[in-house]
Amino acid sequence: MQELFNIFLVLCMAAMVTCRSVDFSLVLQGQTNVMNYGAAGNGATDDSKAFMRAWSDICAGKSDPTLVIPGGRTFLLRPVQLLGPCKPCKIYVEAWGRIVAPSRMSDYGSSHLDCWIRFWRVNGLTVRGNGQIDGQVVGGQALGFSFCNNLQIYGLNVINSPSKHVKLFRCNGAILSNLNIKAPKESPNTDGIVIGESSQIQVHDDNIGTGDDCVAILKGSSNINISRVACGPGHGISIGSLGMNGAYDTVEEIHVQDCSFTGTQNGIRIKTWQGGSGYARKISFQSITLNAAENPIIIDQYYCPQLHCPNKTSAVKVSDISYTGVQGTSMTKTAINLRCSQSMACTNIELNRINITSVGQKFITSSFCLNAHGRASRSIPNMRCLMK
Ligand SMILES: *[C@@H]1O[C@H](CO)[C@@H](O)[C@H](O)[C@H]1NC(C)=O
Ligand SMILES: *[C@@H]1O[C@H](CO)[C@@H](O)[C@H](O)[C@H]1NC(C)=O
Ligand SMILES: *[C@@H]1O[C@H](CO)[C@@H](O)[C@H](O)[C@H]1NC(C)=O
Repeated sequence: MQELFNIFLVLCMAAMVTCRSVDFSLVLQGQTNVMNYGAAGNGATDDSKAFMRAWSDICAGKSDPTLVIPGGRTFLLRPVQLLGPCKPCKIYVEAWGRIVAPSRMSDYGSSHLDCWIRFWRVNGLTVRGNGQIDGQVVGGQALGFSFCNNLQIYGLNVINSPSKHVKLFRCNGAILSNLNIKAPKESPNTDGIVIGESSQIQVHDDNIGTGDDCVAILKGSSNINISRVACGPGHGISIGSLGMNGAYDTVEEIHVQDCSFTGTQNGIRIKTWQGGSGYARKISFQSITLNAAENPIIIDQYYCPQLHCPNKTSAVKVSDISYTGVQGTSMTKTAINLRCSQSMACTNIELNRINITSVGQKFITSSFCLNAHGRASRSIPNMRCLMK
């Protein structure tokens, strides 16, 4: 009797939680395939309504929470917003087919141009498969995930976004792995992965080559591990820019390990504007390989892409930054460039086992420091410019 009562109690409690774990062997129709919702999958018919209908059934807990986008087909999607919160605790999107954006701006619609496929307030989402998401170089950023907790994105090929390829905004807990992200080297603002105001994020085993940052970590982000990511072409891994228009911005606990940079404009970069405040701290770069990178190691507290920024008296504080085991080749002479604020010096900058030589050993690389304090050991170029 007591046992029955316990079971009853557990069932009641399970019914009280907001999202539901459903026993899907009980769902008769099986996975939620977009083809069963009227998708044509011929690359010409607009399939966005079919996707939205399938999504709304899944989100409402009316069908199996696995959205299947079958392989061997091409789905044309106008901008779609897949909104939560949803009933199921876990939702899966299996993307095996090709998903393409409209190739003409006129087909794109004008409603939400900033993002093509956006997931909003969806918790426990896993997007996986070897499908290709093709932005067709029109419209806005390709894949957006906003306010998502416990997100996983695995294996996708995301190409030709006219803007950012994958963006997380206000996500807590995410793993982005085995992604292939590609856009032409000459395409502006086509960041690979962008992480803003998010924490507890793992980015690993990805291959990213675009016209802008490989991975960009924006303000309000913390506890981010990036490992085994191959970058290039593009602008490398960037933290910032922080402190734009006098903003108070913070970033901390960012760890980059076992990453490579091939033909990138920068390697590992921290950039802040003059006049901001806040901090970028507890950041480590370990086991980094450079192949003909232009600015391998750079801290730029004078970030100013438009070239008309007056110097200000406040700055984002940069501290506790370590570089360990960074080796390879630089295209430029100044392989290590630490340009710290004159009002707020960089402190506790540590460099160990650095060996950055010039491509083809054509010239001797050098380092530059401005208001940078810390320690270095076994570094080529030497770091005598660093203040104790
Ligand atoms: C990042 O790596 C550190 C050190 O290995 C670990 O303690 C931490 O939990 C990791 N964070 C995430 C979000 O995976
Ligand atoms: C700001 O200060 C930096 C470092 O001293 C200097 O290189 C730069 O020319 C200054 N910029 C302006 C606009 O004065
Ligand atoms: C630094 O790298 C160059 C080029 O790969 C290599 O020839 C040299 O032996 C390395 N130096 C050290 C101290 O490891």
